Amino acid sequence: MTQHRVHVPKTRRRLAALAAVSLVSALAVPLLSATPATAATPLRTLAAAKGKFIGFAGATGPLADEAAYRTIAQTEFNQITAENAMKWESTEPSDNNYTWSGADQIVAFAAANNQQVHGHTLVWHSQTPGWVQGLGATAMRTAMQDHIATVVGRYANNASLVSWDVVNEVFDENGGFRTSFWYNTLGQSFIADAFRYARAADPNAKLCINDYNVEGINAKSTAMYNLVQSLRAQNVPVDCVGFQSHLATQYGFPGDMRQNLERFAALGVEVRITELDIRIQTPRTSAKDTTQATYYTNAVNACLAVPACSGITIWGFTDKYSWVPDTFPSEGAALLYDENYQPKPAYTAVNTALGGSPTGDTQAPTTPSSLAASGVTSSSVNLSWTASTDNVGVAGYDILRAPGTSGGTFASVGTSTTASFSNTGLSANTSYRYQVRARDAAGNTSAVSNTVTVTTTGGGTGDTQAPSTPSSLAAAGTTSSSTNLTWTASTDNVGVTGYDILRAPGTSGGTFTSVGTSTTTSFSNTGLSANTSYRYQVRARDAAGNVSAVSNTVTVTTTGGGTGGGCSVTATVQTQWNNGYVMQPVTVTNTGTSAISSWTVTFTLPSGHAVTGQWNAVLTTGGQTVTAKNAPHNGALAPSASTTFGFQASRPNGDTATAGTFTCTTP
Ligand code: XIL
Repeated sequence: MTQHRVHVPKTRRRLAALAAVSLVSALAVPLLSATPATAATPLRTLAAAKGKFIGFAGATGPLADEAAYRTIAQTEFNQITAENAMKWESTEPSDNNYTWSGADQIVAFAAANNQQVHGHTLVWHSQTPGWVQGLGATAMRTAMQDHIATVVGRYANNASLVSWDVVNEVFDENGGFRTSFWYNTLGQSFIADAFRYARAADPNAKLCINDYNVEGINAKSTAMYNLVQSLRAQNVPVDCVGFQSHLATQYGFPGDMRQNLERFAALGVEVRITELDIRIQTPRTSAKDTTQATYYTNAVNACLAVPACSGITIWGFTDKYSWVPDTFPSEGAALLYDENYQPKPAYTAVNTALGGSPTGDTQAPTTPSSLAASGVTSSSVNLSWTASTDNVGVAGYDILRAPGTSGGTFASVGTSTTASFSNTGLSANTSYRYQVRARDAAGNTSAVSNTVTVTTTGGGTGDTQAPSTPSSLAAAGTTSSSTNLTWTASTDNVGVTGYDILRAPGTSGGTFTSVGTSTTTSFSNTGLSANTSYRYQVRARDAAGNVSAVSNTVTVTTTGGGTGGGCSVTATVQTQWNNGYVMQPVTVTNTGTSAISSWTVTFTLPSGHAVTGQWNAVLTTGGQTVTAKNAPHNGALAPSASTTFGFQASRPNGDTATAGTFTCTTP
């Protein structure tokens, strides 16, 4: 594969090009529709979502003069490289005579549009004034140092300018060093020197080496690879490698671009596509447009596939201003937009590769589901639902409401960008129905969700329905001073607003009083006494103040507070009836720091009670005290591990007491 590029004298060609440009622009203005025809998600939005930048080479003339150019520049891109304004001939045309207008213009535009700037370029054989080229070795090195210190230093504290091409195009096609005036005068040392000067001038900027025809794996890119590896081994501050990517459809796409980027990334450098354009042999045909679009897709995909690839800069964006026709006779049309700022298939390709649907998205988001209401008061309700998904992203949700429990019309009462919404300003004691639907960036709407019916409370006079009784109250993680309670949630017509946690002292008798509230189905009770039993119950409460019946009772005995100890026990009444009950699980936990091989639990039976069955432990009764020793299979417990056993007891008719004062000991 050979690609010939000729750098003809730049200044002359640029002036001619600029003259032609202003003529075209003057004639074309009345014909321009100013805004791009596409309603696609902008490239910068898509790229940012992928963690990449997407940029363009910016020309100062149209950036200053043409609204259509500016509009696309700011809408579609989040990165700019100055196409010419930061080159040596632009910034220091004569010795120590710096001109900043173009460079400053680019940086100011970027700052105004939240774009990052890549400085291009400090040391290059082209577009560098004759006064530099004629210097002797010492003076040339000094001139290079001054130039880098001054240009990089000017923007070192500028937040927009984040990276520099320090040296550009130092190789020839077969992998040797280009015999430029730099190399001929200073030898290859100019490369390391330039990087060190740049690092000294801005310690934070990413410093890059940049070249063309290095996109695939070939002699030139391998020479670049070897140089970068050797420079970094010598602690020369090379942070990044730029792959210009001036491609042409007649030469084929470098199919190993991704692998090439990956081998550089493995050196620890950032990689970036710095000057992407894909020229065709003019005139355009739809077949050439299609091939070009495929190449753009391939290039974008190569960068997307490599995490170290920070982004892609297109070398311009409109064929109206492209260096290609000036440089490669009979070639052109290399960019994303035509001369009239209309997006080409190449634009569609880049947008699509970045995850967009530029040709008109018609896919609706999925239907939001599981719409539910909670926290109903006399004037408000909180809605939440399961989010929708969409190929171009869900932009938001419409919240729809209809009056009453049937009939009426659903109308929008608000929008949300999250999967929840709070609707306020409702009337007390009134029913409403809600639905939600999702909307994507292209305006497609989903089907509506399930309907949820809500009745506001009436300040005490409306809702009289109590929540269902919380069940399966259980204790776990009991220490010498705390226990964790969990239970199964209650349900309620207007929504459960919380739970009261009730506690009574000891294993029987005493009074249950509230020790706290919870809006979830768990509660941690702290501040308990060591070696002490407590009974717990919970009850649910709704927005109107209705309370449920109390849950089952769980009896907890705290551990011995570090003296003795080694194990703890909690006991739960699983079920009970007129003259008996089952305690299950009775949970034994190793609270020590080493394994135990056996345990003993003792507890007290109220008078008239008798153990009638047992499992997973061996129970012996002496008077009112029951001793439960581990079964052969569950004596061994690692630290923090638990096991359970259970038993059934009989009691006198009508007695509601249960066994208590559970204590665990290890030998
Ligand atoms: C080109 C510009 O696009 C032209 O306007 C200018 O006349 C010549 O330089 N490699 C580079 C870029 O690193 O700076 C070149 O830009 C394109 C090739």
